[in-house]
Amino acid sequence: MDYDIHSHDLVIVGGGLTGLRAALEGVRGGLDVAVVSKVHPLRSHSVAAQGGINAALGNAAGGEDDNWEKHAFDTVKGSDYLADQDAVEIMCREAPTTVVELEHMGTVFSRTEDGRIAQRPFGGAGFPRTCYAADRTGRNLLHTLYEQLTATGVTFYDEYFVTSLVVDGGRCTGCTALNIADGVLHGFVAGATLLATGGFGRLFARSTNALINTGDGAALAFRAGVPLEDMEFVQFHPTTLFGSNILITEGARGEGGLLFNNREERFMKDYAAKAMELAPRDIVARAIQTEAEAGRGFENEYVHLDLTHLGAGRINERLPGIRQIAIDFAGVDPVEAPIPVQPGQHYSMGGVPSGVDGLTPMPGLYAAGECSCVSVHGSNRLGGNSLLETVVFGKLAGAAIVGAMKGLEHPPPDPLLARIESERNRIQDLRSRRDDVSEFWGLP
Ligand code: FUM
Repeated sequence: MDYDIHSHDLVIVGGGLTGLRAALEGVRGGLDVAVVSKVHPLRSHSVAAQGGINAALGNAAGGEDDNWEKHAFDTVKGSDYLADQDAVEIMCREAPTTVVELEHMGTVFSRTEDGRIAQRPFGGAGFPRTCYAADRTGRNLLHTLYEQLTATGVTFYDEYFVTSLVVDGGRCTGCTALNIADGVLHGFVAGATLLATGGFGRLFARSTNALINTGDGAALAFRAGVPLEDMEFVQFHPTTLFGSNILITEGARGEGGLLFNNREERFMKDYAAKAMELAPRDIVARAIQTEAEAGRGFENEYVHLDLTHLGAGRINERLPGIRQIAIDFAGVDPVEAPIPVQPGQHYSMGGVPSGVDGLTPMPGLYAAGECSCVSVHGSNRLGGNSLLETVVFGKLAGAAIVGAMKGLEHPPPDPLLARIESERNRIQDLRSRRDDVSEFWGLP
């Protein structure tokens, strides 16, 4: 097996919104930046984010009195008071500038009648605060950042799977990665390494997460000796499509969608009589599961999310992706019939412990976005705060790394060379194994 060696100031593992926002900050600060991603960046899971990004802009009717302090209060309350309140303050204070900055970079947001960025209500929020691009917000943001980066000197290593971090004298000095296309092992020497790999949703049978969301960043850090934080805090989204568990955005309820059990009751009245369908998602998810288990669901598995009263015009304008997903994957047109929904794993609140600057307990190693635990979500994240987290903390981590790299030499490659050797042996061993798993699946 051959290998190749690369050297960069900053190596970012993961090509989603966090990684791309950090990359932009890094190149703007004069760093030589590489993005190493096991899929093409535009296939990162960020592309699947639907409903929107929170910022107290006060653009929607009824949202005029909103401000970042109210956003911060809702976030802390939604977190069951377990979030780091200083970090929450930074995220919510930065939100309006961050969203407007993305708009200026070219993100096509949905608009109010008078041309401002449109905002919709989301669960647990005191005001309509979620800025959206129909139901394709993540996709629009990701394309914006990728476009921006194509005009820079960032090096993309697409379809490279990072297999280990290299640690020298307690400092992270790079990583090893397998080129998925040809199986060649590559070594990356890095002044700083940023993990931006997303969550670990595929641990669960029912998840909105893409098949790529296998917790790689958390595993890399853990194997390198970094303890993980808050791993027990796992979020279930209330409305995933029955059968496939594809996300049916909270935006559907934000636009007025209603939940019904098999008695045609809006059962949320028994769980959150004031907020109803727009209670925080942990409450709505538990309510749906309780209804199903008490025999008040359909097939003991799901409830109905009814959008029919919204009409075809509004559904096509605000929720076109949801309509198509329901048609393609459940054979239901939401214009005419309710969507069958059930809770599914959606987000990992825990991860690699990191500060607002992305720094982890290991010098040279940074983490941001869902793979990290800052912690701005405590035990329960509010919808719309995930996209916000990616761009705010991606940017802050990038800026912190620019500062930390000033005058810093690239680390020596020797530990990397030794690691490549051991990784080569480990991978050969995995490839040549004939173990119980192979036998279980009847593999040759
Ligand atoms: O329902 C949604 O659109 C999900 C949003 C989020 O998790 O932030």
